[in-house]
Amino acid sequence: MNKETYKIALDGPSGSGKSTLAKNLAKHYGFVYIDTGALYRTIGLFVSERGIASDDVQGIISVLPEIKIEMKLENGGGVVYLGGKRIGDEIRTPLISKYASDVSKLPEVRAFLLETQRSIARENNVIMDGRDIGTVILPDAQVKMFVVASSEARAKRRYAELCEKGVETTYEEVLADMKWRDANDSGREIAPAVPAPDAIMFDNSGLSVEDTVTEAMKIIDGIIKK
Ligand code: DC
Repeated sequence: MNKETYKIALDGPSGSGKSTLAKNLAKHYGFVYIDTGALYRTIGLFVSERGIASDDVQGIISVLPEIKIEMKLENGGGVVYLGGKRIGDEIRTPLISKYASDVSKLPEVRAFLLETQRSIARENNVIMDGRDIGTVILPDAQVKMFVVASSEARAKRRYAELCEKGVETTYEEVLADMKWRDANDSGREIAPAVPAPDAIMFDNSGLSVEDTVTEAMKIIDGIIKK
């Protein structure tokens, strides 16, 4: 039997600070945090490890039945398992970012990951971060926010994140990659990264992490208390 669950959809382009914000909000409200990008990245990882090019549509579709992907709940968040193996930071490289963006354009891949995302929201109060959560995955989410920030602000944050993880790259490379992904993610035909008509636009370009979280909580509390 389905119980009534609370769903917060947090969409927006890469590097907009969605994941940091979502993690903080999940902790505050006691909700499960789901990073849906990790699912697309994991498909990208599988495809790249098979030596399939990221634009080889038939090649990608043909290996989908072999992919055993699961999202398990650990410490209040979803963790991705591929063929029983726990997936970590190996999906955060620039190469896998490109693969993820390309595989996510395919309707077959999106359909493949749909139920994994929805089933978690059926059983848990969730805060889900992605591109199409408010439009496709959880159109009935009680709160929908679309997080935006300038590409420079986003590239700066993503660069700092990657440096911290020991990934070798430059700011220029990250900025160029981000602009390419923005166009690729928002220009695609299926489930483009666009705000739902009922989403609240939230620009955090000039805000610190703390202020971003505080402002988002004000918005969410305003909706929850109605
Ligand atoms: O959020 P992220 O940068 O980790 O996402 C990686 C890629 O996956 C991104 O380029 C677009 C795609 N994606 C998507 O199409 N839909 C989602 N809900 C989440 C991510």
